[in-house]
Amino acid sequence: MAEPSSFSMTFPSLKLRFYFFIFLCFNIGIVSAQLSSDFYSTTCPNVLSTIKTEVDTAVNNEARMGASLLRLHFHDCFVQGCDASILLDDTSNFTGEKTALPNANSVRGFDVIDTIKSKVESLCPGVVSCADIVAVAARDSVVALGGTSWTVQLGRRDSTDASLSLANSDLPAFSLNLSDLITAFSNKGFTAKEMVALSGSHTIGQAGCITFRTRIYNETNIDSTFATSLQANCPSTGGDTNLSPIDTTSQNSFDNAYYKNLQSQKGLFHSDQELFNGGSTDSDVNGYSSDSASFLTDFANAMVKMGNLSPLTGSNGQIRTDCKKVN
Ligand code: HEM
Ligand SMILES: *[C@@H]1O[C@H](CO)[C@@H](O)[C@H](O)[C@H]1NC(C)=O
Ligand SMILES: *[C@@H]1O[C@H](CO)[C@@H](O)[C@H](O)[C@H]1NC(C)=O
Ligand SMILES: *[C@@H]1O[C@H](CO)[C@@H](O)[C@H](O)[C@H]1NC(C)=O
Repeated sequence: MAEPSSFSMTFPSLKLRFYFFIFLCFNIGIVSAQLSSDFYSTTCPNVLSTIKTEVDTAVNNEARMGASLLRLHFHDCFVQGCDASILLDDTSNFTGEKTALPNANSVRGFDVIDTIKSKVESLCPGVVSCADIVAVAARDSVVALGGTSWTVQLGRRDSTDASLSLANSDLPAFSLNLSDLITAFSNKGFTAKEMVALSGSHTIGQAGCITFRTRIYNETNIDSTFATSLQANCPSTGGDTNLSPIDTTSQNSFDNAYYKNLQSQKGLFHSDQELFNGGSTDSDVNGYSSDSASFLTDFANAMVKMGNLSPLTGSNGQIRTDCKKVN
């Protein structure tokens, strides 16, 4: 078999080459033998229907909860991977992620996850990870609000630690400009277009005044009627937690209205409007605004990719009994 001479020189003996081959297989095994859609098919066959029932109940009770559960998965996955680290309360060993700037007084859905976890624990004790529950709940939430579905890959395990500092550094802030948004998502392996598709999540849910105050009082690339109407419930000082829908046209419907809002300068966050402000992602916004099906397809694919961020598998991590604390 002909080989480049440099390869032969680097690995002169057949035996060494054999070990190198085994080493490669082992690594490829670690990278690809991670998650699978049928991971619980024998160990907990009813887990998916159980989670769906609970998510539907929670979203029927309060539509915004669907948005909160979707965001919870995002904020889990961007911080040391999809490992349910965001669910851990502070301990004497570490400060958790709940008090990080992008999470404090803002991330929600912990009670719903706890309720699902206790149902699932009584069904199949010690089998289903909190990280998988969060991933499935995010998908079921999007479906419950009229969006698209996707197959959730399963088999994630739960972390035994959390990172306040990674939560502060790796979760994007609403003040970011386009190049910093692209960098933040590229650091996690996403293209700019995937970042634009994932941002379509802002078609549902609500935000506190503190996250859009500067934009509605001081920015110029904003529809003036839109800005004025938001100022009524978001004073220039105080009222930090007063809520506004992020998509003011259809806050409980997972559609492509977010992109149409951006085209008419009605993005709520500075970061939202950066996606359509004369820069390189304008064409992606135009595309998703005119073609809802392509948005939903790209969004679903990007969610699967997000769910694959550095999962703990095999004997790494653990299956937490209580999502709030290490076993
Ligand atoms: C592109 C960078 C992003 C920035 C700067 C950003 C920022 C924010 C901010 C500031 C809020 C409001 C939080 C509050 O006031 O409580 C928010 C809400 C939300 N975000 Fe993002 N986000 C980004 C990307 C994403 C992604 C990728 C997803 C999901 C895949 C997502 C899903 C959501 C949802 C669903 C809400 C509403 C949550 C609720 O109503 O409880 N965001 N985001
Ligand atoms: C802190 O870490 C030690 C050593 O890993 C462990 O034995 C202990 O249970 C941990 N404490 C908490 C509260 O997690
Ligand atoms: C984006 O923001 C960063 C940090 O504030 C800044 O250094 C950079 O120059 C900005 N880029 C553009 C294109 O405005
Ligand atoms: C708007 O900009 C002015 C001048 O820079 C600043 O004093 C003021 O605090 C800003 N207002 C808001 C709500 O950001």
